[in-house]
Amino acid sequence: MNVSHRTQVAIIGAGPSGLLLGQLLHRSGIDAVILERQTAEHVGNRIRAGVLEQVTTELVNEAGVGARMCRDGLVHDGFELLIDGVRHRIDLKGLTGRSVMVYGQTELTRDLMQARQAAALSTYYEAGEVAVHGYDGARPWVTFKHGGAEQRIDCDFIAGCDGFHGACRASLPAGSFQEFERVYPFGWLGVMSDTPPVNDELIYASGPRGFALCSMRSHVRSRYYVQVPSTDKVSQWSDEAFWDELRLRLDDKARATLVTGPSIEKSIAPLRSFVLEPLRFGRLFLAGDAGHIVPPAGAKGLNLAATDVKLLAEAFIGHYRERSNAGIDHYSARCLRRIWRAERFSWWFTRLLHRFPDDGPIIERFNRAELDYLLHSQSGLRTIAENYVGLPLDFGDQG
Ligand code: APR
Ligand code: PHB
Repeated sequence: MNVSHRTQVAIIGAGPSGLLLGQLLHRSGIDAVILERQTAEHVGNRIRAGVLEQVTTELVNEAGVGARMCRDGLVHDGFELLIDGVRHRIDLKGLTGRSVMVYGQTELTRDLMQARQAAALSTYYEAGEVAVHGYDGARPWVTFKHGGAEQRIDCDFIAGCDGFHGACRASLPAGSFQEFERVYPFGWLGVMSDTPPVNDELIYASGPRGFALCSMRSHVRSRYYVQVPSTDKVSQWSDEAFWDELRLRLDDKARATLVTGPSIEKSIAPLRSFVLEPLRFGRLFLAGDAGHIVPPAGAKGLNLAATDVKLLAEAFIGHYRERSNAGIDHYSARCLRRIWRAERFSWWFTRLLHRFPDDGPIIERFNRAELDYLLHSQSGLRTIAENYVGLPLDFGDQG
């Protein structure tokens, strides 16, 4: 059986990028359909990072889905760097006038899913064999399998929000793009536990045993990470072994207050820097992880996805409402400029806080000296804080 439909924007992927884009378009009266490979349950339970820049919280509010975030999200005015056992506070508010919001990506995804369901917007979960066609011409279309039927959606535009392993990037003709990539020789072993966080603010720790991060989801749920070799498997790490290793990477104060408990999730995330250029191919646009990946140390992944989507929604709104294609034409360059600045920061922050297997003693000394300089210089502290709260979308000198 063949079924065919028509929409203005076909969105591939119901991660935060696709869902937020769908919500912004809906609020502007633009018709969109989302095709997602996984089940709704899978999407709503995926655990990812949870630090939102102001530009992201503003966008979430603008999209009309910020009520729970504003109620339950934790505003953080700073974070701590624990370097070789010594704490240094990065006063984000004092240094930049801005704060960040700690609110899990899982929760944000659920808020977006709920809004989409409440507005009865069209979403195909468990869409199989999604393929994008004809985006170099005026009438692109998407095909997929759903509920035993072959389906076709004709559209004006395709938004590739299908993450790093998606179908959109895979469909690009060879030679039409360039990829930049670095895979790091370690991963982050993460544990979620229903225990109170060890500290009011996040602690990024770096020492001889490697990196660790103390984060949280609420006053009663914590998220912790330790750097592990890429070859490690989750099955090698019992909860006890994880807590023991974390303790060794913290200071006496944190060791004294750390409350441990059974893990409710445990996984190893590989670390990667990746950018694809350009992000537009005729009537196909890539947004979020489909176009770029950052290592998680700077907490930039979701925030970059949000700004891609902001610019993409504006581009479509300009096209339909004002008959202007300026936003469409500038989409790739405007996104890439912010993406590269966040990629640079995430790479640099990762480099500074992790032990790399090939680092000899001199690199460790260079890193320590750089941190010593940064943490004792107002401009150094400002550099960290400005990047962490998020650099502006434009510097005002681009269209
Ligand atoms: N067909 C349909 N859907 C697909 C396909 C496909 N072939 N391939 C992938 N998808 C779906 C995935 O199942 C997923 O739900 O696309 C979605 C992509 O979501 P994410 O990977 O979460 O990417 P994005 O929405 O861009 O979110 C970026 O997620 O990984 C973090 O750090 C990142 O926080 C950032 C955010
Ligand atoms: C998280 O809470 O999962 C988290 C927080 C900050 C980061 C990365 C991950 O930099």
